[in-house]
Amino acid sequence: PSPTPGFPLPSKHTQQAVDPASDFTSKWTRADAKQIMAQSNPSVAPGQNSMSPDVTMPEIPEDFPAMNDDVWVWDTWSLTDENANQISYKGYDVIFSLVADRHAGYGFDQRHWNARIGYFFRKTNADPAKDKWNYGGHLFLDNTSIGNTEWSGSTRLMQGNQVNVFYTATTFHDVAERNAGGGGIAPDAAIAKALGKIHADKNGVTFDGFQHTKLLEPDGKMYQTKAQNPGFAFRDPYTFADPAHPGKTYMVFEGNTAGNRGDYQCKGEDLGYQPGDPHAEKLTDVQNTGAHYQTANVGLAVADNKDLTKWSFLPPILSANCVNDQTERPQIFIQNENGKNKYYLYTISHQFTYADGMRGPDGVYGFVGDGIRSDYQPVNNSGLALGSPTDLNLPANNPSGTISGQQNGRQFQAYSHYVQPNGLVQSFIDNVNGVRGGSLSPTVKINFKNGVTQVDRSFGQNGLGPFGYLPTNKRIGGEGLY
Ligand code: FRU
Repeated sequence: PSPTPGFPLPSKHTQQAVDPASDFTSKWTRADAKQIMAQSNPSVAPGQNSMSPDVTMPEIPEDFPAMNDDVWVWDTWSLTDENANQISYKGYDVIFSLVADRHAGYGFDQRHWNARIGYFFRKTNADPAKDKWNYGGHLFLDNTSIGNTEWSGSTRLMQGNQVNVFYTATTFHDVAERNAGGGGIAPDAAIAKALGKIHADKNGVTFDGFQHTKLLEPDGKMYQTKAQNPGFAFRDPYTFADPAHPGKTYMVFEGNTAGNRGDYQCKGEDLGYQPGDPHAEKLTDVQNTGAHYQTANVGLAVADNKDLTKWSFLPPILSANCVNDQTERPQIFIQNENGKNKYYLYTISHQFTYADGMRGPDGVYGFVGDGIRSDYQPVNNSGLALGSPTDLNLPANNPSGTISGQQNGRQFQAYSHYVQPNGLVQSFIDNVNGVRGGSLSPTVKINFKNGVTQVDRSFGQNGLGPFGYLPTNKRIGGEGLY
């Protein structure tokens, strides 16, 4: 691509795959992420959306319905198999969501400290525009999971009616931390799984018999520990099979680069500027901004046994050192393009987790390569696949505060985007012009090919599909039996 005047060129990425067990980590560079601003419109009226419609989530109406009156609902995923197919089980679609009690006296922003995994089901042939998801309650019995708070993960149907729920076992030690929502003793985090059974009959779907196993805790060598940084991230496991490595099961998850907070030194490869680029930043200048505090990565692990109870860490597949501090809920999507399998890595990130000098919206980011571990090319050259409507011209460190009321009221309209087969993207509603969410957003569709993504505005109504549309694409256990 030719540079936008005033902006650097993006980094060169070959997309070439290497052995998943090798120690090459692809870099989402500052030069890449600078393309978000290069592609943003510098002259919109303050508070409008400055991003291209191709990467902007259509506007959610303020009068959205609540999915459930008793629980807030946020991060959500489907029952899947190892190839990211969404499974209809005995005629039911089943989804899993983080939930928190709406009536317990805390607000929506305190949800993280009170999170449980809940589940919903509805008949596979339901009308997604009319038929509500039935709430099945908490997935696990009280006080049975590893840790005292359940954060995101993924759920896979195994042999027969067995399911493996991979989740983040977060443990808060401090009542103040839980109630006030921050500032107390930092929580511990482990990746865990629970093997249980799914049952379906004419009354709906139930689960039982869960056996919990702790799988992974950060090692401090590749993945940062709480001792190294109380603000560490270690969460959101997603497992999958890779046709290039039959018989193996892999897991991607959210991590941070290991090392004591502040010790990291930004490197030339984190900046990623092409030689002689007149818009390149100097390493020392970047380091002096404090960008080295932002050290997100996407971790990789491989299962050591068929029961998926033993795992080994592999080096991260992607890092965002000196760019961004969080790459959450990663997923790998394999799509055949021109007779070749292309691996799309999708991960969500926030505008407030960007390093100094970097600017981007809350949304989902994508990277494409020839294998699980490859020199990933950020989609659209920037990485941004779909963001909430935002005026990126307003300053990153105080996007709405300094120019009060001038930011787009939908900058935090949705988060936790989950990419499904056929490019359907599910998310939860956070804040639409001040109206707080806690319910699933209208599903939108992105088309992606050759590393380019585009919001499909012919889908649904001006690009907005049904609320909470997570359709299944594979049936197991009967053709609509109940
Ligand atoms: C994304 C997220 C996840 C985490 C969960 C906790 O919205 O931050 O990374 O598992 O929320 O509520």
